[in-house]
Amino acid sequence: MSIDDVNAPVAASNPYLEGNMAPVPDEITVENLPVTGEIPEQLDGRWLRNGPNPIDTSGDPAHWFVGDGMVHGVRIRGGRAEWYRNRWVRSESVAAHLGTEVPPGDDGRGGPNTSVGAFAGSIWAMVEAGGRPARLTDELETIAYDDFGGTLPNGFTAHPKYDRDTGELHAVCYSYPDVADHVQYMVVGPDATVTKLVEVPVADMPMIHDMSLTASKAIVYDLPVTVDIEMAMQGASFPMKWNPDHGARVGLLDRGADTADDIVWVDVPLSYVFHPLNAYDTDDGKVVLDICRYDKMFDLDLLGPVGDSTPTLDRWTVDPATRTVHTERIDDRGHEFPIVSGRYSNTRHRFGYTSSIGANGSDEETWFSGTNKIDFDSGAVTVHDHGPGRGGAEPLFIPRDGGTAEDDGWLMVLVYDQGANSSDLVLLDAQDISGPEVARISLPRRVPNGFHGAWVS
Ligand SMILES: [Fe+2]
Repeated sequence: MSIDDVNAPVAASNPYLEGNMAPVPDEITVENLPVTGEIPEQLDGRWLRNGPNPIDTSGDPAHWFVGDGMVHGVRIRGGRAEWYRNRWVRSESVAAHLGTEVPPGDDGRGGPNTSVGAFAGSIWAMVEAGGRPARLTDELETIAYDDFGGTLPNGFTAHPKYDRDTGELHAVCYSYPDVADHVQYMVVGPDATVTKLVEVPVADMPMIHDMSLTASKAIVYDLPVTVDIEMAMQGASFPMKWNPDHGARVGLLDRGADTADDIVWVDVPLSYVFHPLNAYDTDDGKVVLDICRYDKMFDLDLLGPVGDSTPTLDRWTVDPATRTVHTERIDDRGHEFPIVSGRYSNTRHRFGYTSSIGANGSDEETWFSGTNKIDFDSGAVTVHDHGPGRGGAEPLFIPRDGGTAEDDGWLMVLVYDQGANSSDLVLLDAQDISGPEVARISLPRRVPNGFHGAWVS
């Protein structure tokens, strides 16, 4: 796909509007969902999931990443799935289409479409590249856009990192086109105000989707997907393009630093990373980054992330003393949407979980396929095959109350069934991932392939 194609009229051949990438047309609420198996009694909360669901696809093909956000949710309590509902995150354009009010604080950038999670007593829908987060009710209605009480200088990110010890969020944020020559490392306190802001100089306006946090450091991924001026001038909806001339490096910033003067940059292999699985400090002063790594991104496919390369699971061990990186391939099959147990985030983990991407599973057409458990001690990868034509999206890990083993808990996985054109919410036993499902909640309609979710208990 060339630059010209980005602006070509008619979205008829946009693969990001076909199959389970296609948006659903409306908002519904359905109570008492069918369940097979047993939902553990412990589970009392909401499964939430955000993703693009463009409300108007009549114009030029837009990049998948800019579609209007829609949050899907399932209320689980007492072994029952009480309801499913889906709601667009209200924005100016969504409100205009639906004839509803524009929420206070709307920044005109569209509804956050990338992640959803709970912090400081609210549910937040989040996005990168300059957008503000939006606060939602427990029933997924948009309350307001929020710039953290006026303390957020520009946009936020979809991937803040939670520090269990301090109750803070740490984030690396970029804001196109408002901030041209640096990205912002920030800390958000438990009261949802920005308590620290460090400007980190970077060139070319790189797309920095995620960050890593360790006990001592914040890690900035400065990788070769950057704003393409020609695309920007042509009005491309998301003018980010593969730019190998930019180089690839990670920046190690001490969490206590007030400026980026002493950030340590280390060159890494030319590649792109949307998502680290986890990161931690080693006893000898290095930083381990487990990542899903692409050889290229937004080089030929300029409408979404699927067409250029398949992400592998790699480990980068970065030594700030020598400014070198040791790279290892953990698994060369396709892995994305990596997670660890929240009890092990930012510290050394043994287990991780991912979605299989591409040919690593039952059906390439679903994009997602199996759900993986990785044992980083042994290198073993165990796959839960969801069956023919069934693909599992980002898994969530829910620890069992009173459990002490790292993997004692459940994986909650949204599964799309291509044959039935329907979606289920599936629970797996994380200690027996290849075993049978613990429970399956049948959703009343398919949930399009999207991005990130959360279990909010
Ligand atoms: Fe992401």
